[in-house]
Amino acid sequence: MAEGTLDKGKRRFVIGATSVVGGIGVAAAAAPFVLSMFPSERAKAAGAPVEVDISKLEPGQKIDVEWRGKVVWIVNRTPAMLDSLAKLDAKLADPASNQPQQPDYAKNPARAIKPQLFVAVGICTHLGCSPTFRPEVAPADLGGDWLGGFFCPCHQSKFDLAGRVYAGVPAPTNLVIPPYRFVGDTKVVIGDDGKSA
Ligand code: FES
Repeated sequence: MAEGTLDKGKRRFVIGATSVVGGIGVAAAAAPFVLSMFPSERAKAAGAPVEVDISKLEPGQKIDVEWRGKVVWIVNRTPAMLDSLAKLDAKLADPASNQPQQPDYAKNPARAIKPQLFVAVGICTHLGCSPTFRPEVAPADLGGDWLGGFFCPCHQSKFDLAGRVYAGVPAPTNLVIPPYRFVGDTKVVIGDDGKSA
């Protein structure tokens, strides 16, 4: 019975702690309850959106960001890089991004909210390697018709500078575009677009 009393007491304590909104005193009194919430808080943090300052990202550069344990690329595409996209459709498996590999607002030729800024999960859709950024045109190892893109060395899958997969390579689909949004002109929030989690 002593146990039942304790349980009741705990229940009352939890109800009390959660039914009072805000207040520093409440937070202090509820410390044991807060500690018991740590694992889920950690899990929430692991999935939390990531805000990235892109003010120093030069044209042609890529930065890598970690979101939910995955690498996310942000590339500042030059006008020449963007021009290359329209020339590649015939070589791609899904040039119009019909597969649901991106939010609706990135289902466009640049697969992006702002054409020059490309945001994508940097994980190959074949078996999960991270493709390398190969922005150069016609390098010896990728051939004279390479206009820049991402190359996965694991099994030679190729993607263009919008993460669209070439036809005939092992990767079955375009790279994933995560939910994201801009805050002003210099910040991107990865993992939160105000629509999806
Ligand atoms: S994991 Fe990229 S081609 Fe296989």
